[in-house]
Amino acid sequence: PRPPLFQRRLTVPPVLRPTRSAGDTDHYEIVQTAVRAEILPGLTTELWTYNGSFPGPTIHSTRGRTVRIRHVNRLPVPTVVHLHGGRTPAADDGYPIDFVHPLDMAQHVGHHMGGDVSHGERTYTYPLDQRAATLWYHDHRMDFTGPSVWRGLAGFHLHHDDEEAALGLPAGVPLMIADRSFDRDGSLLYPARAGGHGVTGDYVAGVLGDVMLVNGVPWPTHPVGRGTYRFRLLNAANARRLSVRLDPPPPTGLVRIGTDGGLLAAPIRHDHLELAPAQRFDILVDFSAYAPGTVVTMVNDFDIGAMGQIMRFVVGDERLAPFAVPDRLSTVTPPRASDAVVTRRFDFRTGEIAGHDGWLVGQQPFHPDVIAAHVKLGTVEIWQLNADFHHPVHLHLSPFQVLGRGSGGPGPYDAGWQDTIDLRPGEQAKILVHFDGYPGKYVFHCHNLEHEDMAMMANFVAT
Ligand code: C2O
Ligand code: CU
Repeated sequence: PRPPLFQRRLTVPPVLRPTRSAGDTDHYEIVQTAVRAEILPGLTTELWTYNGSFPGPTIHSTRGRTVRIRHVNRLPVPTVVHLHGGRTPAADDGYPIDFVHPLDMAQHVGHHMGGDVSHGERTYTYPLDQRAATLWYHDHRMDFTGPSVWRGLAGFHLHHDDEEAALGLPAGVPLMIADRSFDRDGSLLYPARAGGHGVTGDYVAGVLGDVMLVNGVPWPTHPVGRGTYRFRLLNAANARRLSVRLDPPPPTGLVRIGTDGGLLAAPIRHDHLELAPAQRFDILVDFSAYAPGTVVTMVNDFDIGAMGQIMRFVVGDERLAPFAVPDRLSTVTPPRASDAVVTRRFDFRTGEIAGHDGWLVGQQPFHPDVIAAHVKLGTVEIWQLNADFHHPVHLHLSPFQVLGRGSGGPGPYDAGWQDTIDLRPGEQAKILVHFDGYPGKYVFHCHNLEHEDMAMMANFVAT
């Protein structure tokens, strides 16, 4: 069933407070638990959540302070927590077989695969020695990330630093955009293949829903005053790409100030924004030119009808203090292509795995023991990524800059530090990756979660 559009108020996920702070470390606690929530009017939906809410609670961190999060697994399945965009030591990065089993689960899988398995709970430590950025955390269990995130295991982690604080930006509203489908009884519909990972034939390209959610609310409405707002857009859909526009458009455009890897050097004005799954855009919108009472719809131009709409802002009378968008936002020092020590090529293509359709990186399905690249920390590499379909390719640990697409330069959304690139069908893109941080084994993969679960993931080892 599809609920009526624009009937409910936007909600903003609760902010998680530390359970204690000691020295330079803030300690948090999250219980992963199944809850029933009313997403569709009059029906309840079982969700898998972080602390009972979908999206999970928002964590705010500041550069210079370590975050330690104790996750307790009270779900009926193993979980793995990954901080997407985090510069995290390998042991805490949520490697896809580092399962946290529910305490009472009789059978413990994962040991035989070599995973660092824990029982009932695990504490993840995040040094967060990195620029301010819109990060997010989500489940990353091998072969089951799609169904777990679909059920609700995703939340924001907003990281701050002095450079960002000095700008005095308006307080941000995080907007997690994701599509889902529901059965008549309100339960989430996910076309899992019986008895294993992956989805049924029709959904091999990725699972699309027919209800648009923002922060877990279908097609919400949000009142705004006449002034400038900061929105942190996250495409948390399993597979849906979005082309976001405001209708009627604000005269000053959608002012993009940040991307996956934090603030841009200077703001970029757009009339629409294309976001592939896992991408984040940090934007400023000035509502002051609209007459009070104006209804401004956020639309998705990649679709029509209900899925072509996302949410609504209703402009009120209240005048906010004017905010002048700074010309310079941050220092971005991109590496130079001439510094690259090697060029590697990876093909992201469809393929067959054990008689089923699957998705491969370099003709190889994901296996924890197969290493696709050995990289040296402190070096820069060029990675040429070739795609047969839409593949939002994401690298753990290592931010990159887009060098170019095909024979041209970077695309309109490619400026700044990224951790996910929206590859289009038939496209060949080159990225300049800065490997830095911590030694160990990390993954890179397609962030279309069905592709990821159907093996479009590979390892690199950093030393
Ligand atoms: Cu958003 Cu490998 O993850
Ligand atoms: Cu893909």
